[in-house]
Amino acid sequence: MTETAKNSEHKPCNLLVTGGAGFIGSNFVHYWLKTWPDTRLIVLDALTYAGNRNNLTEVEDNKSLRFVQGDILDETLVEGLLRDEAIDTIVHFAAESHVDRSIHGPDAFLQTNIIGTHSLLKAAKRVWLDDQIKDNHRFHHVSTDEVYGTLKPNDPAFTETTPYAPNSPYAASKASSDFLVRAYHETYGLNVTTSNCSNNYGSYQFPEKLIPLVIANILDGKPLPIYGDGQQIRDWLYVDDHNRGIDLVIRHGRNNETYNIGGNNEWANIDIVKLICELLDKQFQSASDMAIRFPNAPQVTGKSAKDLITFVKDRAGHDRRYAIDASKITGELGYSPKESFETGIRKTLQWYLENETWWRAIMDGSYQHWLKTNYNK
Ligand code: NAD
Ligand code: TYD
Repeated sequence: MTETAKNSEHKPCNLLVTGGAGFIGSNFVHYWLKTWPDTRLIVLDALTYAGNRNNLTEVEDNKSLRFVQGDILDETLVEGLLRDEAIDTIVHFAAESHVDRSIHGPDAFLQTNIIGTHSLLKAAKRVWLDDQIKDNHRFHHVSTDEVYGTLKPNDPAFTETTPYAPNSPYAASKASSDFLVRAYHETYGLNVTTSNCSNNYGSYQFPEKLIPLVIANILDGKPLPIYGDGQQIRDWLYVDDHNRGIDLVIRHGRNNETYNIGGNNEWANIDIVKLICELLDKQFQSASDMAIRFPNAPQVTGKSAKDLITFVKDRAGHDRRYAIDASKITGELGYSPKESFETGIRKTLQWYLENETWWRAIMDGSYQHWLKTNYNK
């Protein structure tokens, strides 16, 4: 770690974690309570379609955790929490996060991701700067590599100085929120950090995103929709590795700096889907209960999951390639991912196999409703 990094230590004691019942947020809560048991953690989550109280079942008896159902747009609620709980650190995950939904209905993205982030910033400024100066404070904003736009095959990976060029309403709303966070530092002196991360995968990911959708659809014998030619490239990072990066940035990151977090792990979509097919084909061969548990899976009739691959109409404005240059967080804060894609994807598959009730409740309920409403499927 460099001297500069050491000199910007922040000691989180009481955290407000927004969006802590979503995919990455709930994994963060698990990670944090295990890693820093002497701190207190308040989750604020509106429990939208993507938020799930069950994501926190494992830690619900933990005395360090308080769950509050509420909206980041509710400034009175947020200010009350910041004061009553003596919050010194906000970790801001709450967002509308699915690109396809942002194409069909951008308004919610602008409302939550831009206005919602601004509401939080206003509340933080009032409590930490206007009421009574609280030097030990930090607003950490969780953002995405999608703000940088798309890369050509041989372009260098995104660095923190790559100009913003968001292409989807989701990415544009996240880019706007990144700028607001920066502005609250430059204008008012709020202590802020931002991390821009690549595609995450792991437990508790809502099965509308590529990896969990493919797992669930294979097990139910449903088509695996591949947008366009399937050659779009993403950098994939195991969710705990993202959260370890956020932890480092919160505690050691320099004020008003942004840090890219990535896995150095670029994959074309079609190759990821084929890999999951192969791993599940093997699972059916080696575990005899698989055929009983998942009678509609293609493997039960001697086929491969690959037979379910179906090329469909491309996503509008589909970014071709994302790649992250994570040398800043590595050099300054000593970050490196712990999980290889090989180990991470196996853990993820295992989790979805062991938590069928979790994803089936979603596939049978809200997600199907959204598909019917938006795609008439
Ligand atoms: P998610 O959609 O799984 O979870 C979002 C959570 O925010 C849900 O629990 C939801 O109920 C909550 N929420 C939404 N609107 C809210 C509001 N107005 N008030 C309070 N809570 C609200 O999202 P995710 O995939 O866990 O992403 C978390 C954050 O990480 C987002 O900011 C996203 O932009 C960013 N990110 C995600 C990825 C990824 O691959 N998923 C990659 C990089 C960055
Ligand atoms: P997704 O998981 O939605 O994440 P993001 O759009 O934030 O990258 O999608 C990952 C990639 O997979 C993206 O290039 C779109 C593609 N994709 C499909 O081809 N089919 C699908 O059904 C989904 C959900 C995504």
